[in-house]
Amino acid sequence: MNKRFVTFLPAGVKVEVEPGTDLLTAASKANVEIKAPCGGDGTCGKCAVKIQSGSVKARRDSHLATRIAEKGFNLACQSLVQDEDLVVEIPQTSALTKHQVLVERSSIGEGISDALSNYLLRVWQLKELLLEKQESPLNGYPLKPLCKRVRLTLPAASLQDNRDDLNRLTMALKKEIKCTDIQIPLPLVRNLGEILRTAQFKVTVLLSEIGGKAEIIAIEPGHAHQPLYGIAVDIGTTTVVAYLLDLEKGRVVDTAGTHNRQARFGDDVISRIVYAVEEQDGLQTVHQSIIDTINTLIMDLLVKQRHIKETDIRVMMTAGNTTMAHLFLGINPKFIRLEPYIPTTNFYPVVKSKELGLRLHPDALVFSYPSVASYVGGDIVSGTLFTKMGNEDAPISLLIDIGTNGEMVLGAGDWLVTCSCSAGPAFEGSGITFGMRAMHGAIERLEIDPQTYEISYTTINNGKPVGICGSGLIDCLAKLRCSGVIDRAGKFQTNLPTERMRIGEAGPEFVLVWREDTDINRDIIISEADVKNLLRAKGAVFAGIRTLLNVVGFELDGIENIYVAGGFGNYLNIPDAIAIGLLPDIPVEKYKYVGNTSAKGACMALLSQEAWQEANNLAGKMTYIELSVGNLFMDEFVSSLFIPHTDLTLFPNVS
Ligand code: FES
Repeated sequence: MNKRFVTFLPAGVKVEVEPGTDLLTAASKANVEIKAPCGGDGTCGKCAVKIQSGSVKARRDSHLATRIAEKGFNLACQSLVQDEDLVVEIPQTSALTKHQVLVERSSIGEGISDALSNYLLRVWQLKELLLEKQESPLNGYPLKPLCKRVRLTLPAASLQDNRDDLNRLTMALKKEIKCTDIQIPLPLVRNLGEILRTAQFKVTVLLSEIGGKAEIIAIEPGHAHQPLYGIAVDIGTTTVVAYLLDLEKGRVVDTAGTHNRQARFGDDVISRIVYAVEEQDGLQTVHQSIIDTINTLIMDLLVKQRHIKETDIRVMMTAGNTTMAHLFLGINPKFIRLEPYIPTTNFYPVVKSKELGLRLHPDALVFSYPSVASYVGGDIVSGTLFTKMGNEDAPISLLIDIGTNGEMVLGAGDWLVTCSCSAGPAFEGSGITFGMRAMHGAIERLEIDPQTYEISYTTINNGKPVGICGSGLIDCLAKLRCSGVIDRAGKFQTNLPTERMRIGEAGPEFVLVWREDTDINRDIIISEADVKNLLRAKGAVFAGIRTLLNVVGFELDGIENIYVAGGFGNYLNIPDAIAIGLLPDIPVEKYKYVGNTSAKGACMALLSQEAWQEANNLAGKMTYIELSVGNLFMDEFVSSLFIPHTDLTLFPNVS
């Protein structure tokens, strides 16, 4: 059958697909990203699009698809192209664009002109650079990058000095790097004699040196003086952030961020594993989409830094959770989700860029942060390195990363215990009727008048409300409880004297913003089901903390620092998070936002061999606690499903 064209509006991007292709796949092919938290299962309703011309066939009937159709929309994942061209409009609420992800990090408004957007983006980047200058990416480690250049002038070969060329090179190199174990791959030996003579025995050797062992990566004629670059990448399930580093100066040159293109296969790691394992060519497809995401970031960086070429980047360090690391390297992740939840490996081989198709020098070395277990990955090891919790003199601390899941590490120095609680991505807006990430128009702060039930709120960039992000959801839960809209179990008090309280399609709901005040022409509500989802998420995080403390026989007041990591942490209102029982009731001064420690740790490891070795030590010495074994976690979880908890003595300062 002939292929058909699908044009996506408002971008006006056109793509040619086979009849029978669903619109979510067609959009992905066109590099037009549509939200798909359920990975195309037809269960989340977030991929709604409007068919402007042409007609589609529904993959299957469902209650959700019917409800969406009544509002004039179709689910992209369930709509199949037929034998005619289509024009499809993607409403703002369904679009997931690069611009929006940058908004997330830069507070740039949506709906502004490209020129203004680019200007503001540039200002943001300069701000970021200034920040980076204030705070060395080395974080106290010595500058000794994983990849370095050594400029050598060798004695010329002669009848008196008749050592072979390789011997001549390695002898000179040993004097410079004080390393006895030097490996050189055969392809570099093959042409060594020619290079040495052409360059009159003046060469630059590029090598990686770790733990007393060196491997030569390249031998170039002459003494190279141009900067040497590396790239550190935080591969998040939701967003991917890249730092371009000058390896010799130990500084950040530029940064770029975008959403992970794997989002098309679902919001959480389980959906992505299922796609990789169950779909035809699934693993290759999911693997390629993270490679494409990273290549896009590299191109973004090189467009901004025009004097740098792809081939100038000679090394890469990545940090991500265990599933992301497997998918990045194309390793089958199947057993990560099957009991007893064992990953294929926690320590990943160093590979060459050309093996993965990355847009770097083809021989650039690609390192991946080691993991601890299936659900505690390199991003957490990276965070532990950044916070220096493994240092001998470190006080007892807790690192919490609330992202698509909730991972945490407790300990000091030699003992570090870690776990992952399946909090789910509720605080990233997934599974919540009007939940969204921290983007333009997201409600981030909220107050409810306990007498009138009137609402005041602030949104990101002061945009007209389009939904509610993680920090707003925490505020919302705290204020719903304070004003008596919900009880301690999250049940709605349906007899309140306000029209905001009503019974909706899915049960009791409370209107946060009336339709006319929104940018989506719909009432923004929070439902009882949403509240239950949030209680489960916060309950899992707190139960994880309590379980770790129980395992090591510690009390909450023994913790000196609580490090809150991840993008979400930066927006978190700690008193509200304590009030709902998400975080422990300890003095707020003990809480410290540490930002994207996954990316920061990746930079440290790339710039310092000591940091990289310490990261590997940490991964080896962290003890993983599997929460599904025994009843400890489950008992804690059930007690944590109330606001703030069934045991109020744990929250003495929450009234
Ligand atoms: Fe289409 Fe979830 S309903 S992606």
